[in-house]
Amino acid sequence: MISRNVIITGATSGVGKALALRVAQRKAKLIMFCRDKTKAENTRNELIQKSHNEDIHIVIADLSSMKSVREAVAGIKKTFPELYMLVNNAGCSVIKRTITEEGIEKTFASNYLGHYILTMLLVDLMRESAPSRIINLASQAHAKIDFNNLSGEKKYNYFTAYKYSKAANILFTFDLAEKLKDTGITVNCVHPGVVRSNIYDNIKGINRLLIKSIWPFFITPEKSAEIIMPLLLSKDFRNITGKYFVKGKAVCPKKGVDNISDRMKLRELSEKLTQIKL
Ligand SMILES: NC(=O)c1ccc[n+]([C@@H]2O[C@H](COP(=O)([O-])OP(=O)(O)OC[C@H]3O[C@@H](n4cnc5c(N)ncnc54)[C@H](OP(=O)(O)O)[C@@H]3O)[C@@H](O)[C@H]2O)c1
Repeated sequence: MISRNVIITGATSGVGKALALRVAQRKAKLIMFCRDKTKAENTRNELIQKSHNEDIHIVIADLSSMKSVREAVAGIKKTFPELYMLVNNAGCSVIKRTITEEGIEKTFASNYLGHYILTMLLVDLMRESAPSRIINLASQAHAKIDFNNLSGEKKYNYFTAYKYSKAANILFTFDLAEKLKDTGITVNCVHPGVVRSNIYDNIKGINRLLIKSIWPFFITPEKSAEIIMPLLLSKDFRNITGKYFVKGKAVCPKKGVDNISDRMKLRELSEKLTQIKL
């Protein structure tokens, strides 16, 4: 049994919801970090019913908005005096290039930058609560970032934008893990498997047909959560940090994705956009 606080972003569906149920079943205090109030309340009720754990809380924020994340963190810090685990799970695919009110491409903003802010603003709380863990949801779809077209300014393709955002999750994991060495906070990232979830809902046309044809080979969110859970709770992972996990094993990202130059570029860009120094 664990007795401390766990934040899961995107806990209203797919992998995040399946992880949330498992965490709630372990009687942790669960904080669901979600963008849609109604969905979040319905999910909370379902989780309480299935886990018999009423210690489930909702924080409403949109990760694509830096302002929204900052406000949410202020609320979290007022309400929760400690934080054992942060699971940066929320993710999306944005079919048509969209620039947020704050001028950021929406896939990058939702999948990476919002989580950068959330994590960086919660690090001090996690340090005080150490030993603590940060888990970032990456993907085997990650690809080397083209920093000259990161926002799709030259040419936008939703899958390319998604691939870059997932590479950013990995680079951030490695960079932050080094920074937090010896603080008692571990930082790892994980590919959840190819999962039957809502993330594919926006995809239309030929790619929709393709996904439909291979859908039976995708794993369920519950199976994905089973693969990820040891990273959250097992003592075996207590001292492991700065790794990328696929099917329970630490692996290297794809060739060329992780290098010091790209880590620095991402770090500088994140710091410039958020005014938060890693
Ligand atoms: N499914 C796969 O095959 C696969 C493969 C590799 C990696 N992943 C990664 O696994 C993670 C979970 O994805 P999933 O497959 O479980 O997808 P999903 O079922 O679509 O769930 C995504 C969750 O993220 C939330 N979300 C999306 N954008 C948000 C935003 N701007 N602010 C706050 N919350 C937001 C969604 O909220 P709403 O419910 O309000 O939409 C939902 O709760 C993602 O990081 C994804 O990249 C998935």
